[in-house]
Amino acid sequence: MTGKIDHTSHDEAPVFPSAEFAAQSSLNAEQYRAMYEQSIQDPETFWGNIAQELHWHAPWSRVLDWQEPHAQWFVGAQTNVAYNALDRQVDSGLGEKRAIVWEGEDGEIRTYTYSDLLEQVKRAANALLTLGVVKGDRVTLYLPMIPEAAIAMLACARIGAVHSVVFGGFSVSALADRIQNAGSKVLVTADASYRKGALVPLKGNADAAAQKAPILEKMLVVCRANCDAPMQPGRDVYWHDALERASSEHEAAALDSEHPLFVLYTSGSTGKPKGVVHSTGGYMVGAYLSTKTVFDLKAGDLFWCTADVGWVTGHSYAVYGPLLTGASVLMYEGAPNHPDWGRFWDMVQRHKVSVLYTAPTAIRSFMRAGDEFPNRYDLSSLRLLGSVGEPINPEAWRWYWRVIGGERCPVVDTWWQTETGSIMLTTLPGAFPAKPGTAGLPMFGVDAAIVTRDGHDVEDGQGGLLVIRKPWPSMLRTVYGDDERYVKTYWGEITGVYFAGDGARKDADGYITVMGRVDDVLNVSGHRLGTMEIESALVGHASVSEAAVVGRPDELKGECVVAFVLVQDGHTVDVDELRRHVSREIGALARPDAIYVADALPKTRSGKIMRRFLRQVAAGQEISGDTSTLEDPSVLERLAATVAQ
Ligand code: WT7
Repeated sequence: MTGKIDHTSHDEAPVFPSAEFAAQSSLNAEQYRAMYEQSIQDPETFWGNIAQELHWHAPWSRVLDWQEPHAQWFVGAQTNVAYNALDRQVDSGLGEKRAIVWEGEDGEIRTYTYSDLLEQVKRAANALLTLGVVKGDRVTLYLPMIPEAAIAMLACARIGAVHSVVFGGFSVSALADRIQNAGSKVLVTADASYRKGALVPLKGNADAAAQKAPILEKMLVVCRANCDAPMQPGRDVYWHDALERASSEHEAAALDSEHPLFVLYTSGSTGKPKGVVHSTGGYMVGAYLSTKTVFDLKAGDLFWCTADVGWVTGHSYAVYGPLLTGASVLMYEGAPNHPDWGRFWDMVQRHKVSVLYTAPTAIRSFMRAGDEFPNRYDLSSLRLLGSVGEPINPEAWRWYWRVIGGERCPVVDTWWQTETGSIMLTTLPGAFPAKPGTAGLPMFGVDAAIVTRDGHDVEDGQGGLLVIRKPWPSMLRTVYGDDERYVKTYWGEITGVYFAGDGARKDADGYITVMGRVDDVLNVSGHRLGTMEIESALVGHASVSEAAVVGRPDELKGECVVAFVLVQDGHTVDVDELRRHVSREIGALARPDAIYVADALPKTRSGKIMRRFLRQVAAGQEISGDTSTLEDPSVLERLAATVAQ
């Protein structure tokens, strides 16, 4: 395998920011170039200067110590992320500014100023200490999107406990595995959470997980719903009781820059999830600078990152990054289609959201639901839009730009990973034109390259493997409890560089298009094709709202293309026409041999299509592997029946 990936799809016309947006944005193209140049040539000076914008309890002796593949940033320095996110803001006069505006799915609204949030975090920090949590202990959080989630994260950070947030949609066994793997003695959960009007019994799941995770000793339980979940005496304590009893005085611990801030479990190509470990100082600096520059935040902005705190996006851009920059964030508990598909747009209008950061899978759902929902609301408060999580197909990009942004708001497509901690590729909104479907240029300090399996650069325009050649501050430090896996998975595949599984290509302007995971790549007649490109072509057809493409072993071609599509409301799918459409868009090579019309795709709860299972379905094989991370595992049976027909 050479790592070369063929592609034939044409490039999109660039979309320029308006003169008005460019004039007010904090960085122009020349500034970006000068900063980027310095960040690569002299990273120590660059990052040292950025870090000076934050508070350090003790200074560093060296900015970087790089013993490949282990990096230490701000060596010897001491700091505290929660202090920087809260105390520092209050001290600089932002005490009365809104930090978090929260809306429950049921319409309840709560607002926390920076002073309010600081007080809650101090109380929560003291409550954790009372439960016996000490510096370095892991604390698992299994919570809905409620302010207490952010408060609990910051409280851990404040005392130097390492939080491990487990998405509230995960099952009992997934939660138990993560508690046990992290060795958490304390779990913070809630009685229940609201989702599409129904109650999700988080405490019930937590109780069941506790049976399977003997390490667990204590549970702190937030009362979000009726407060009638059974409490186990001696083990369970209500959050509100514990915080009420706790003192509102607490001094943030001075922590070593390399002290772990959090563990976040993510799936790899093998079954067992990895606990990605992030540090205090480096992560803080990365989250801070990227939030400030990519989202071009201004004093009056209301920033809404719709990601759940269970994912890294919710860590870096719903909590840490925005608070470190002194921004106001909107947080929402519930589903995007409750009570209907207008919910987000109603919230944008009512709260006057100015910067919105969401995922392509959500954008395509909104597209599918129809323009009438956003069209009902006044979205004129929006000035910038962001996308993250998977490649955004140009069709969805343009819909987002036109229907949500009114052709007024730049759209930043941001590529990064749980492992990278902060945004790695994007197009800074006021500095450069965006190319729909293309993440864009490397962020500061990101030495990105497109290479073959043996590490040789490919020519511009050629597909290859996306690697990072230098350490960056917010990079993961290790895999929890398995440093060998860290070394092998991330730095061992291609000698001397970080590689985490994506294929990409770079154009003559240096813009990088991420084509998807390389394990999502097909080899058709000796030509390798990104599944994403074919999916993008399919979704570009009026009759298709979503598509997933996988390879099926084929005697003649090695692999052939199989597509699963969802029909756009009000249309019917003509399979032959669709095959011709893909031929037209990409080339005959990419024409699907089979197209199956489906009612749903096998997605994880975060919206990622599990192509591994689709490959098995397409090949008519028995499903093997753990299907418990799927939103709805029954989809697989229906798809298998369709394929068998
Ligand atoms: C993988 C990382 C980063 C936070 C959310 C996902 C894919 C992510 C993009 C993008 C193309 C993207 C990559 C990456 N991905 N953003 N803008 N364009 N692909 O974090 O679960 O760690 O997944 O998501 O394949 O490797 P994650």
